[in-house]
Formats: sequence, C-alpha cells, structure tokens
Amino acid sequence: MARQIIQTIITAQQGQPHQFKGDILMLGLYNDTKQVPGEYVLVDKAADGAIGHLLEIGDFAGKSCENAILYTPGNFGCRRIMVVGLGEKEKFEPEILRQTIGTAVRAADKLAAGKIGLALPAEMLDGKFKTERIAQAVSEGAIAGRYEFEDYLPEKKENGKSSPKTQITLLAVNASQAKIFDQGCKIGSVLAQGQNVARMIANKPANEINPPTLAREAQRLAKQFGLHCKIYDDRELLRMKMNAILAVGNSSASKPRLILLEYNGRRGGAKTKGPDVIVVGKAVTFDSGGIDLKPSPKMELMKFDKCGGCDVLGIMTAAARLKLPLRVVGLIPSAENLISDTCYRPGDIVRTCSGKTVEILSTDAEGRMLLCDALTLAVKMKPDAIVDLATLTGACAVALGEHYAGLFGNDDSLLNKFKAAAELSGERVWHLPSGPEYLEQMKSKIADLKNVGVREGGASMAAAFLGEFVDGIPWVHLDIACVAKPDTDKPWRDSGATGFGVRLVLEYLRSLVS
Ligand code: BES
Ligand code: ZN
Ligand code: ZN
Repeated sequence: MARQIIQTIITAQQGQPHQFKGDILMLGLYNDTKQVPGEYVLVDKAADGAIGHLLEIGDFAGKSCENAILYTPGNFGCRRIMVVGLGEKEKFEPEILRQTIGTAVRAADKLAAGKIGLALPAEMLDGKFKTERIAQAVSEGAIAGRYEFEDYLPEKKENGKSSPKTQITLLAVNASQAKIFDQGCKIGSVLAQGQNVARMIANKPANEINPPTLAREAQRLAKQFGLHCKIYDDRELLRMKMNAILAVGNSSASKPRLILLEYNGRRGGAKTKGPDVIVVGKAVTFDSGGIDLKPSPKMELMKFDKCGGCDVLGIMTAAARLKLPLRVVGLIPSAENLISDTCYRPGDIVRTCSGKTVEILSTDAEGRMLLCDALTLAVKMKPDAIVDLATLTGACAVALGEHYAGLFGNDDSLLNKFKAAAELSGERVWHLPSGPEYLEQMKSKIADLKNVGVREGGASMAAAFLGEFVDGIPWVHLDIACVAKPDTDKPWRDSGATGFGVRLVLEYLRSLVS
C-alpha cells in the first residue's frame, strides 16, 4: 500500500514542551503575541530565551501559515523549535489549524524531521471549539499536508530529505486532555487518510487509470478495507440497459465500468431495508470533450475528471475504518470520453436506464450521462438518501472559484446536514438553485431531455437534469469542478488533486449517527 497511508502517525501525550525530545518542537502562537505566553515560559527558558528574542525583534508576526525556526542550545532535548502562526485569535477556526499545521509539516519534511512535538496555546482550548475537534484538525492538516504526488519520481524518494515515517506528538496538559486529543487524532487520521486515498488515485494520469484499471484499484481497496465490491463491465451494462454510460464509454478502447462498493456496519449486517446512504461519484478518467472537442490549453487537467469517483473510494474506505453503524453503498460510473469511430455524436438520442430519452447536444456534457444511469440504479436500491460528487460544470467553477463547491438538492433537511458538515470539515459549500425553471431549459422537442441547455446558469441546469433521475428520494449534488483541482498553489498542500468532498461526506455520515 502506498506509503502515504501509514506515513504519518499522530498521537497525544501528556507532557511539557520543554521536556520534549525529538527533531522539531512546534509551538502555536496567535498573531500580535508580544510576550512569551505562560505555557511556553519554561521552554523559552530552556532555549535561552530564543522565543522571547524573536517576539522582541518582531521578525514573526504570527500570521496563519507563517513559521520561524529557532535553533536551541545543546542541552535542550530538541535542536529546533518551529514557531507556527495561528492568525488572529478572534478569527481562529479549525481550518486555520489545518492550514497552519499542513504548512509547518511540509517545512519540517524538508528538514527530514521525523519526530515532531506540537504544543498549542492554552487559549485555543477555552471551549469555543471542542477539544476533540482541535486535535482532529491537527491530524487532518498534518496528514493531508504531508501527502505528495511523487509516484513517478522514485529518485526523489531515495535521495530527498523527506522522512518516510513521521511521528507527531500532540502535547496535552493533563491525562484527560491527552485522552480527548487522542480520540480526535484517531478520527482525523482516518478522514485525512481517506482524503489521501482519493488524491493518490485522482493524481494518476489517464494512461494508467482508465475504467478497467480504476475498477482494479477499487477491488484492491475493497479487499484491504473489508468492503464488498462488484464490477459491472460493458457487457453487463448492456444487459442492465445502462445506455447512457455506454454511449460515453464506447468512445474508448478502455470500455466503461460501473463500480459498486458496499459497507454494511449495521448490527448483524442487516439488509432488511435499503442503504442509509448511496454515494455516487463521476469518474471520467479523461474528458477530451469527444466530438465537441475541448480546446487544447489545460486539457491535461481533464485527467482530474475522475475526482468524484476517487472521492467515493476514499469515503468508503474511511467509513469502514470508522466502523460507522450504517449501510453505505458507493457507485462509481467510469468512462473515458474520447473521439473514435465508436463514439457518440451530437444529435444522438440515448435511451437511458430510467427509460427517459436524452438528445445529445454536446458530447462534452458527458458527466450527467454517466450519473443519470448510476442514479437510476441507486433509486432501485431504495436508499434513505443519495449524494453525488462530480467535476460536472465549468459554469460552477466560474461561479464559485476554488473556495466553495456547488451544493444542490431537493430536500432542505439533507441540505442543512451538508451545510453543517461543511462547517465541520472546512470543505465549504454554497447552495445554488436547481428548480423547475432550469429543468424547463433542459427539455427537448424530440426527446424527454437534452443534455445541454443554454450557457447561462449551466451548473444549475446540470443539477436540474440529474434531479430528474432521483425519483423524489432526498438527494444532494456536489459540483466539485473547481475545488477538486484548484489552479492556485497553497503552502499547506501538494498542488494536485485535493480530495475535496471526502471529509465533507464523512462528516455528514458521522452526523447521522452522533
Ligand atoms: N468535466 C467537465 C467540467 C469541468 C470543466 C470540470 C472544467 C473541471 C474543470 C464537463 O464534462 C464538461 O465538459 N462540462 C461542460 C458542459 C457544457 C457542454 C454544457 C462545460 O462545463 O463546459
Ligand atoms: Zn465534458
Ligand atoms: Zn467531464
């Protein structure tokens, strides 16, 4: 298994910062800290007043993600102290901690620091945020931060300074705090490792990941994490009348697949009623646009059009590890959207699995085609709720940029649960409309629907199209077109796939049972 999975171990321990022995001791500081806070006085003393000097000189403002390294005298158990900024105390939230810790561990990696201690300001634990949530954010920031896509740079692994295994100890003031920290670290580790599972596969190029090889990855993960897995190949898809998936997938020599994963954490594995939740993820392993070919600049980024499906892999593995008392099914329709003599064309009319017919106006609006057949299968399984994740529209990227995913749905209570989960996970969503006006624009004169309406409001029309296939079951759709692979680099994470959506959906699942 890829090393990112086991690479970072985070635990809590009761202990004083000045007694920590290791490669780096990280100390969190809010901005505008003028004096060494009480909880760091002893460590400052042990470091010959280095922290006090730094604050005095004013070289460190304490902005979030800022850090400074201090070198300590030889009698101190740890030769480096890294002061890490936490921003304004009033504006503090767990997401700041994720970003700050992510940035700090990436800097520590460059120093080959394998043993890290971390102390946080006492004020952070004054009750505004739960202690467990603080520790969870620390481990999420560290584990997501240390992930690097370097599968194709073997020499970097051998010669680079990056330490293969890193042990981070979150220092607690007493045993009961250590216990709560530990619980948060455990949960955060599982969530962020799930996120990294999604990123590891999403980052792989399309010459390696195509629908059949993605299905093999799913089988491998299912075996490792104890999930049930079933792969529907193109022949079975034909039998199941999944003509929309086939229409897209027939364009490539790598034929389409529908991946089904199931985790049943109910008592005795009861299947007396349908799944609690079905999570559906778009996995277009490469989206050239088809005959409606995309322009060449940045077309290489279309290997990321499988991110929704990769998220489902991460979500399912983590749901199993968390032992959630739920029955969750993951569905990943996967195809490659290419040009060939077997590809679908503009003007084609496709009879989808639901029986509804769709007039193809653009072969580049392929994601909704894959999803509609997968949603039809989901409905047949009678779940309590359906969630889908998809890099679906450029329009959503234009509307929200890399800061929020588009959230759509047909059920206020479910939408609210997602808004709450977004707060907890730091993966933010913005509710956009998908009502009957948008559906009206997706009606065809010669079929039930067309796959493209007008340009304006494209994300909402795509959502309205999907809404026609959920048969009134509570459903949310997450358009992750821009957040799955943002354009801008950030100091707290590798520049490739983000795995956005994994922690969000897991927090939603956790909220169902807490
Ligand atoms: N995969 C794209 C959407 C996308 C665009 C994701 C940019 C990430 C970044 C999707 O299949 C697509 O091409 N959608 C079209 C729909 C249009 C033809 C109605 C789009 O958004 O342009
Ligand atoms: Zn497309
Ligand atoms: Zn696409």
